[in-house]
Amino acid sequence: MPTFKLSTSPILTQKSDCLLLFAAATETRVLLSPAAKEADKKLDGQIAKLIKNGDFHGKSGESAWLATGKLSHKRVLLAGLGNSEEDARDGLTAAFTACTKRNVQHVAVTVANLPATLVEHTVSAATVAEYQYHQGGFTPKAGKLRQVTLAKPKNFSSKQLKTATAAAAGINLTRHLAEQPGNICTPVFLGQCAQALAKKTTLRAKVLDEKQIRKLKMGALLAVAKGSVNPPRFIILQHKGGNAKDAPVVLVGKGVTFDTGGISIKPAPAMDEMKFDMCGAATVFGVMQAVAQAKMPLNVTGIIPTCENMPDGRAVKPGDVITAASGKTIEVLNTDAEGRLILADALHYADKLKPVAVIDIATLTGACVIALGHHVSGLMGRGDKLLSALTAAGDAVGDPCWQLPMGKKYQKQLKTDYADVANIGGRSAGTITAACFLSRFSECEQWAHLDIAGTAWTTGKRATGRPVALLTRYLSTLAARQR
Ligand code: BES
Ligand code: MN
Ligand code: ZN
Repeated sequence: MPTFKLSTSPILTQKSDCLLLFAAATETRVLLSPAAKEADKKLDGQIAKLIKNGDFHGKSGESAWLATGKLSHKRVLLAGLGNSEEDARDGLTAAFTACTKRNVQHVAVTVANLPATLVEHTVSAATVAEYQYHQGGFTPKAGKLRQVTLAKPKNFSSKQLKTATAAAAGINLTRHLAEQPGNICTPVFLGQCAQALAKKTTLRAKVLDEKQIRKLKMGALLAVAKGSVNPPRFIILQHKGGNAKDAPVVLVGKGVTFDTGGISIKPAPAMDEMKFDMCGAATVFGVMQAVAQAKMPLNVTGIIPTCENMPDGRAVKPGDVITAASGKTIEVLNTDAEGRLILADALHYADKLKPVAVIDIATLTGACVIALGHHVSGLMGRGDKLLSALTAAGDAVGDPCWQLPMGKKYQKQLKTDYADVANIGGRSAGTITAACFLSRFSECEQWAHLDIAGTAWTTGKRATGRPVALLTRYLSTLAARQR
């Protein structure tokens, strides 16, 4: 990722490969940033002319390459930020994408008058634009963008910059892992990735193999893993930034490295997208790296149950009854509802760590994509304090989630005569009944479940890195409050 520098000396008179200037828009007017106004004097009034001629409106995503005039920057790009914070985020993303398309190595950005949340997003937009897919390895490779110089805003500290760069690097790590094909990104690969991350950071990693998983009686994880020649792993990542006695926040990520559906096999169209069924796990990797890199004064533990869901002569079958680590029995009525099974064992493990809060992240239900589409993640759980903090964190960083109800009546849909609980609850409210199933395996008073089936990757089959920004913001807010 690029290096970010907060500069207190004037940006306009410095040198870079590209100077980024901004304009916002109201219904009727184009609003130039103070820096853009200042720059236009040295740009022979090009900006004023563009606006007067009606060729630039300041809308989000709009941009214009200008002649450099009397400035010593190699290029000058004027970018529109529209008239809302959401518009501005999209505008920043578009501006940096335009830069990386031209192989720009050093960008100078006039962010001094932007609110802190947008300065943070500038860091994330630059980092995200720089990302390029490459196959294999535990880290994203460096792109062409090497340096971003930001005109230091008054209310923006180097500590805020540190948190923003850590979050942005986390997003790219998550995207990198998420986009790996299923034959590369196996449970064993994710285990190695945890070891590699521990080596690179202050995190501690523990990777349990099949034998150790059996010892913990994780019958639900083992049942899903049974059909695959790729053995499962149970990964624990620890950040000890708080006092030894402080109860940890626990993050649990679904790590199904490929979901065929198992014996209840999925239809062929778009089945390739089920390589993304480990995006919850990838999110935990990204957030744990961010937490370590930003040295957050908190204890955070990441837990990843990971396996592959395959049809096979040894695979778990519809109607099979299995026993989870908690001792509860589950009737597996559909082997494609496998995410909740592996999470059941992981949530039970999380409870044993006596956490202050547990947050699980999972590409759990197709129904969530139908309910909420691709723009907001589904949020369910118990503990209003946690749920409202997560909602606020998501809104603050443009990575929103939306709470769905989880009343008692939905729980009845999971009733069966053959076990304590069935793993599916019928056609209606599929996202909610999946969360109801999870609730049976978590006893933490502050427990949240994020269903990221619609938000973790795009219809263009690219990973988004969501909800790393949401979770990093939630944790950094928590860290700031504890000090
Ligand atoms: N990984 C899928 C959920 C999913 C599907 C995410 C499509 C994103 C896009 C999950 O394991 C699954 O298969 N869920 C089933 C549950 C059903 C059998 C109750 C589903 O959503 O169809
Ligand atoms: Mn499935
Ligand atoms: Zn799945």
